[in-house]
Amino acid sequence: MSLLDEVDRLESEALERIGMADSLEAVKELQIRYLGRKSPLVAVLRQLGTLSDDEKKLVGARANQVRTSLEAKLEEAVGRFSEGEKQGAFDPTLPGTVQHVGTVHIINQVMQEICDTFYGMGFQIALGPHVETDHFNFEALNFPPDHPARDMQDTFFVEGGRLLRTHTTPVQARVLASSGPPIKIVTPGRTFRNEAISTRSHVSFHQVDGFLVDENVTMSDLKGVLVAFCHAFFGEDLKLKFRPSFFPFTEPSAEVDISCFLCKGKGCQLCKYSGWLEILGCGMIHPAVLEAAQIDSEKYTGYAFGIGVERVAMQRYKINDIRLFFNDNVRFLRQFC
Ligand code: DAH
Repeated sequence: MSLLDEVDRLESEALERIGMADSLEAVKELQIRYLGRKSPLVAVLRQLGTLSDDEKKLVGARANQVRTSLEAKLEEAVGRFSEGEKQGAFDPTLPGTVQHVGTVHIINQVMQEICDTFYGMGFQIALGPHVETDHFNFEALNFPPDHPARDMQDTFFVEGGRLLRTHTTPVQARVLASSGPPIKIVTPGRTFRNEAISTRSHVSFHQVDGFLVDENVTMSDLKGVLVAFCHAFFGEDLKLKFRPSFFPFTEPSAEVDISCFLCKGKGCQLCKYSGWLEILGCGMIHPAVLEAAQIDSEKYTGYAFGIGVERVAMQRYKINDIRLFFNDNVRFLRQFC
């Protein structure tokens, strides 16, 4: 075989092996084998002296060309494997890593479910601001200035005489002031109270208020929607008890207890062995609230109710500390994914 043929053979052999190399070590070995001092190419160059001048030129040029191209190919292969090692070579046979996707917080889930239930009964949704005026939070809801009923709701005041709303009922006052009957609305949202944080109370929590204003609205309409809601939310086989209560914006006012859905009224830890769970406040909208919004209280009547979202969520999921909703304990939150 002529030396020229030998150079061609060496080139195709080297290219084939470079193509088959499967690790950085293998490429490094090929570098030594084909470019090192003892490589067959060097051996060819050493034999140039035995050739004629013309052949010397031809073979020498060809051998240098092959050397340069092998250098480039091997360099490229080194780059390929070092890159793979740096980033962890892609292995399609490895099992995938599970990505944790965030979900809607349990309180928002429950608030949404409450709204959906009322939406199904024909209520629309209205929202209002967290920073409220004294007028909508108290005045328009029949809490006169200095009235002791204001102490029922410890308030955070902010600059400019405004305050953080203590309930979502001010949205009721806003809607009444801006639109006329018939009105049928639920108002979900966040509320704030200047209270000591404990297992049962927090400085911030959520409510869903609801109300209906129309002609001939009676307390039995109120009972109808609340029974439907409680059955949808807690289960069909429970009873409701309306206990007389007081809210400045409703007259008469009531609080609703449901028979404990866990022990069916027999008495257990959840209902503190009373058989009943207190779940919401409600009543017939006070005529003064309608009049404050220029609605004729002789012609129109309305009912209203207010549901504490954390309260019903705690009851339904048997959670004994409201603070769990507001810290970042992922193990707690993941239960509701
Ligand atoms: N706003 C009341 C509270 O935060 C709850 C409430 C009671 C809302 C009766 C109402 C209602 O709309 O009719 O304690």
